[in-house]
Amino acid sequence: RSYRIAVIPGDGIGVEVVPEGLRVLRRTAELYGFTVETEQFDFASAAYYQAHGEMLPPDWHETLVGFDAIFFGAVGWPEVVPDHVSLWGSLLKFRREFDQYVNLRPVRLLHGVVSPLRDRTPEEVDFYVVRENTEGEYSSIGGRIFEGTDRETVLQETVMTRIGVDRVLRYAFELARQREKKHLTWATKSNGISISMPYWDERAETMAGQYPEIRADKYHIDILTANFVLHPDLFDVVVASNLFGDILSDLGPACAGTIGIAPSANINPERTFPSLFEPVHGSAPDIAGRGIANPIGQIWSAAMMLDHLGEHAAGEAIVAAIEDILVDGSVAKTPDLGGSATTGQLGTAIAERLQAP
Ligand code: NAI
Ligand code: MG
Repeated sequence: RSYRIAVIPGDGIGVEVVPEGLRVLRRTAELYGFTVETEQFDFASAAYYQAHGEMLPPDWHETLVGFDAIFFGAVGWPEVVPDHVSLWGSLLKFRREFDQYVNLRPVRLLHGVVSPLRDRTPEEVDFYVVRENTEGEYSSIGGRIFEGTDRETVLQETVMTRIGVDRVLRYAFELARQREKKHLTWATKSNGISISMPYWDERAETMAGQYPEIRADKYHIDILTANFVLHPDLFDVVVASNLFGDILSDLGPACAGTIGIAPSANINPERTFPSLFEPVHGSAPDIAGRGIANPIGQIWSAAMMLDHLGEHAAGEAIVAAIEDILVDGSVAKTPDLGGSATTGQLGTAIAERLQAP
């Protein structure tokens, strides 16, 4: 087995944590008997923007489309390029043009992490957030009229298509089917948003009918956020529209530890296009260049990438090594975890802790 991975470190701490992700990835490949061929790209960064006036080269699509996956660090350096330009000029283009319509984030409290939810155990906090990543509330249909007058009016439409809603629900139900609890929750707000959300509910109910083995329920988004904090043990797979999913997919990982740990995946389930794996955090200009960023979010993203590529055991081995290091008091951690280790030291410790099959 051999996989071709496009590596895009991006900006700030992206450049510091990506090498640690690759270190662990290469070690895992050796132990599990597959090969990873990587090619690194300097676009999708502020430096590239300074040199070219664009975030990406014109042929980025052809350049990346043949890879099995994209391993991404973080993009953004507000001093050089405004955030909306860097994000819309790179990451959001990948998501849209590679039809990565699922944003997947595990909410999993690892052993050795102090959860902001007091007294919660890893057994109680272990679920996924599945966010619709291409339509819904984030449409560009709308506009302003009567600008500058007291009748100024702004409108932005939500777009839900049957294909768009069904495909993300399908992904979530399939994920729930593979899990032990076989429980799916969908986020809604059909008591307040009276056209699009009842449609979302209707499609979810129809889909639930096709999966009798899955226990499916719905929560309105307001009480759902409260329950993420108060009763995280209620959830297994949570699926949501673009906006609600955006909120849940930050809230969930935040409940499960520091921002430096959480991974995410932007997935094209049909595999027509490469999927993209990246930590939840950004480029962290406030700590960049000091070698103290936590590499775990990037390393865990490598585990999600292997899982997507079909190397499930190798992916689990990475998560196990991370957890093992987190609980081991004799191993120094990065400052965000209360230690004094460098990015490289923590990455190396995890790579060395990997267990062969
Ligand atoms: P951020 O996630 O970069 O940083 C937030 C806070 O968390 C900072 O105090 C930072 O030091 C800390 N932090 C983040 N990752 C860490 C790690 N691995 N280890 C230790 N501490 C860590 O978010 P912020 O400050 O809002 O954005 C900074 C830049 O990153 C902006 O340009 C933003 O647009 C971009 N960004 C990019 C993302 C992406 O590439 N997917 C996602 C989020 C932000
Ligand atoms: Mg977000």
